[in-house]
Amino acid sequence: MFSFSDADMFSRRCVWVNGPVIVGAGPSGLAVAAGLKQQGVPFVILERADCVASLWQKRTYDRLKLHLPKKFCQLPEYPFPDHYPEYPSKRQFIEYLESYAANFDISPQFNECVQSAKYDEACRLWRIRTVCRGGSEVEYICQWLVVATGENAEGVVPEIDGLKEFGGEVIHASDYKSGESFRGKKVLVVGCGNSGMEVSLDLCNYGAKPSMVVRSSVHVLPREVFGKSTFEVAIFLLKWLPLWLVDKVLLFLAWTVLGKTENYGLKRPSVGPFELKNTQGKTPVLDIGALERIRSGEIQVVPAIKKFSCGNVELVNGENLEIDAVVLATGYCSNVPYWLQESEFFSKNGFPKSPFPNAWKGKAGLYAVGFTRRGLSGVSADAVQISQDIAMIWKDDLKQKKQKVPNHRRCISTF
Ligand SMILES: Cc1cc2nc3c(=O)[nH]c(=O)nc-3n(C[C@H](O)[C@H](O)[C@H](O)COP(=O)(O)OP(=O)(O)OC[C@H]3O[C@@H](n4cnc5c(N)ncnc54)[C@H](O)[C@@H]3O)c2cc1C
Ligand SMILES: NC(=O)c1ccc[n+]([C@@H]2O[C@H](COP(=O)([O-])OP(=O)(O)OC[C@H]3O[C@@H](n4cnc5c(N)ncnc54)[C@H](OP(=O)(O)O)[C@@H]3O)[C@@H](O)[C@H]2O)c1
Repeated sequence: MFSFSDADMFSRRCVWVNGPVIVGAGPSGLAVAAGLKQQGVPFVILERADCVASLWQKRTYDRLKLHLPKKFCQLPEYPFPDHYPEYPSKRQFIEYLESYAANFDISPQFNECVQSAKYDEACRLWRIRTVCRGGSEVEYICQWLVVATGENAEGVVPEIDGLKEFGGEVIHASDYKSGESFRGKKVLVVGCGNSGMEVSLDLCNYGAKPSMVVRSSVHVLPREVFGKSTFEVAIFLLKWLPLWLVDKVLLFLAWTVLGKTENYGLKRPSVGPFELKNTQGKTPVLDIGALERIRSGEIQVVPAIKKFSCGNVELVNGENLEIDAVVLATGYCSNVPYWLQESEFFSKNGFPKSPFPNAWKGKAGLYAVGFTRRGLSGVSADAVQISQDIAMIWKDDLKQKKQKVPNHRRCISTF
């Protein structure tokens, strides 16, 4: 039964959804929606931003390209146009996602941020509360909840001693667009993942002087080895060889192409790149030119930060650098713990507790898409499973319960 006695239930609009609610209209949410559309399952897709793929549209830098070949990045049932290059640009990827949504007739409800979602044991339904841009509140009630808010929902801003006293511009990589406004400036880039490396490279291209903080270790691999995508080579080798051996082959190939990265201050982790990705979720850097700039001295590699002061940073080796600006390329995190009131399937870090291949389905109609740290190919695999699973249950339900829908469920549809 519904808990109609809840006083606050009457203070917001309440909508019964005869199908799943999908939270997030990035590649993951769109791919699940497309699968459901194809099978005739109705759904609602809620998006806090005013567009699809807001990570790509609003929170990435201009020079960004997909770093894996396009065949590993396309969503189900809709290939990239033939004229797209092997590594589509950010603009091309956004156009592809917009035409994906149009092709499957997906219309997300934009400017609606999910504040909380909770399984109501009493009525055995999900209750999802949102706030719209104008401040109005809506509660959606449904049988299935698909979490598609992404592994990179929020930028991580670490607390670093003295950062508040620094005085210059401090931005997260998600707000960095290009090096244009940093021309001639000394910029400290904190972090050496794919973002840190590419922001540093971009700053060089615009005549800024970047110093990149490398506080621990990093696997840098060439994006291609002998004309073939490194990722594709690895996928091929994994068919025949164990992961540890594939890692050894990759590191050998990386050495032949890039040389010894340790010589430039980029210590390699003791665990191989694929094993590290699988066990700790740490993505290797696919180099597209930053290493050359490190070699030439245009990007300076520096150790961890001790503290900031006005216009200055002190490093753990005692060195002091005068700097004009800071770009925090310090990564991202999931925001699931902030809104999903559930602790059986999701862990405190906002990722499913069970690793791949069991990270897509929880109990009570809960699903997660795009949380296996496998990029866009992982998104597609999850989306196909989820849409098929929901469609199967939905069609069964429809057959069995068509004539038995309780009156109270009928009467609350959109009021
Ligand atoms: C700079 C950068 C480059 C990348 N490059 C690649 C690449 O080349 N290849 C690759 O495979 N992967 C790449 N990734 C990983 C990236 O996460 C995936 O490509 C892809 O965007 C994941 O899609 P998603 O839909 O799961 O998450 P997202 O794209 O993050 O979409 C999630 C959506 O959910 C919405 N949302 C979040 N919280 C709420 C809420 N509470 N209520 C309503 N809506 C909400 C967000 O606004 C967003 O639109 C990159 C990531 C970054 C940060
Ligand atoms: N298509 C592309 O080309 C592209 C471009 C950018 C990003 N991406 C993807 O986007 C995702 C996020 O990448 P990302 O580079 O933004 O994040 P990331 O891979 O999580 O890297 C974060 C970096 O910040 C460092 N860091 C964090 N806190 C720090 C602190 N207090 N002081 C110093 N260093 C600190 C980390 O160091 P430790 O390792 O020591 O923790 C790490 O080097 C990845 O999946 C990546 O592949 C793809």
